[in-house]
Amino acid sequence: MPKVNMLDLSGEYELFRDKVRTAVDEVLESQQFINGPAIKQLEEALAQRAGVAHGIAISNGTDALLCALMALDVGAGDEVILPSFTFFATAGVVARLGATPVFVDVDEATFNIDPMLVEKAITSKTRAIIVVHLFGQCADMDAINRVAKAHGVKVVEDAAQAIDATYGEKKAGSLADVASLSFYPTKNLGGFGEGGLILTNDDKLAEVSRQLRNHGESSRYHHDRVGGNFRLDTMKAAILMVKLDSLSEFTQRRQTNAAAYSDGLSGSFVSPPVVMDKCSHVYHQYTIKTAHRDSLQKHLNSQGVGSSIYYPVPLHLQACFSSLGYESGSLPVTERLVKEVLSIPCHPMLSEEDVKHVMASVLSFDHACVEC
Ligand SMILES: Cc1ncc(COP(=O)(O)O)c(C=O)c1O
Repeated sequence: MPKVNMLDLSGEYELFRDKVRTAVDEVLESQQFINGPAIKQLEEALAQRAGVAHGIAISNGTDALLCALMALDVGAGDEVILPSFTFFATAGVVARLGATPVFVDVDEATFNIDPMLVEKAITSKTRAIIVVHLFGQCADMDAINRVAKAHGVKVVEDAAQAIDATYGEKKAGSLADVASLSFYPTKNLGGFGEGGLILTNDDKLAEVSRQLRNHGESSRYHHDRVGGNFRLDTMKAAILMVKLDSLSEFTQRRQTNAAAYSDGLSGSFVSPPVVMDKCSHVYHQYTIKTAHRDSLQKHLNSQGVGSSIYYPVPLHLQACFSSLGYESGSLPVTERLVKEVLSIPCHPMLSEEDVKHVMASVLSFDHACVEC
C-alpha cells in the first residue's frame, strides 16, 4: 500500500541540495553571519514579490508579528481583534505586549475572520485588527479595511500561511498596514530553521521595525526604544533565496493537487475548501470538513495516508486566556470547526498516484459509512 505523508521535506531537499550547499559555503567563507548581503537580497526580493516598499527580515514569524505590533505601539490598555481559529502565535504576541486579545468568530466557508463580527467587536480601546489568511487564502480584506478605516484602527496581516496568495490584483502582505511572513520549515517557503519577515508600504513603520529588530538601536549604542534581537541569520536568508526560485512552481503543484481533490471530492460526504472569487488559494493546507472527522482520520491512517487537525483547540478556550472570560459556545463557528476540520496531504512533492490514493482513501470511507 502506498504511504502518503503530510510532508516530504527530505524529497524537497534533494532538489536543492547542491545549490543550498554552495550558498551556505559562500556565507561561511564570508564570515558575515549577521546582516550579510543575503539579508538585503531576501528583503528586496520578497518586498518586490508582494508589491510593497519594504521587507524586514526577522528571526521567525512570531517575532515578525510581535515586532509589527510593537512598531504600531500596541501595549497595555489596548485591545486587538483577531480570530480564535488560528495558530497560537497570533494571539500570544498580543498578550505578551500587555494588550487584550479580543477573539471573534470566522466565516464557516473560508475559515477566515468574519468582518461583520469584527465591526461589532470594535470599542474605544481597539488599537488593531489582526487578520490571518488561514491555510493560504486571503481574508475578506475590502470589508475589513473598510471597517478599520471607519474606526481609525490599524490592520495587520498574519500572512504566515499565505505567501503569494492573491486578492484581486494584489498579493497577501500588501493588503493592509503591515504584514508578517513565516519561513518555518513546513511553510510554503520553508527555511532551514526559524525565519520570518515584515512587509509594509509605510516608511516610518519600516524604520521603526528595523530599529526594534536590533534592540531599538537608532545609532550605535543609542536606543530610542526598547526592542529585541529579532534578527534573521544570513545563512538562513541565503538558503531561502535558493528556495525562492522554486516557490511559484511549488505553489502551482499545490494548486494542481488541490484542484484534483476538489473535483474528486465534490458531492461526497466531505466539504472541500471554498475559494472566494477574488482569491487565488496557495493551499498551505488543503482542509476538508466532515462531521465524521475523527473516524475518517483513523481510516486514512489505516490506508497509509497522513492527515492533521489544524486546529483542535480554539484560542478563546485556551487555559492561558481563561481570565478573559470566554465560555464554551461563545464563538460557535470556531467551536464547530475545531471538531470537523481535517487537512490532507497537498505538498508539492506528491505524485499523481499519491493524490489518487488520498482521494480513493477518503471516498472509500464514504462507502463504508453508507453501508453501515
Ligand atoms: C498563522 C500563523 N501565524 C504565526 C505563525 C508563527 O510563525 P513562526 O512559527 O515562524 O514563529 C505561524 C506558523 O507557525 C502561523 O501558522
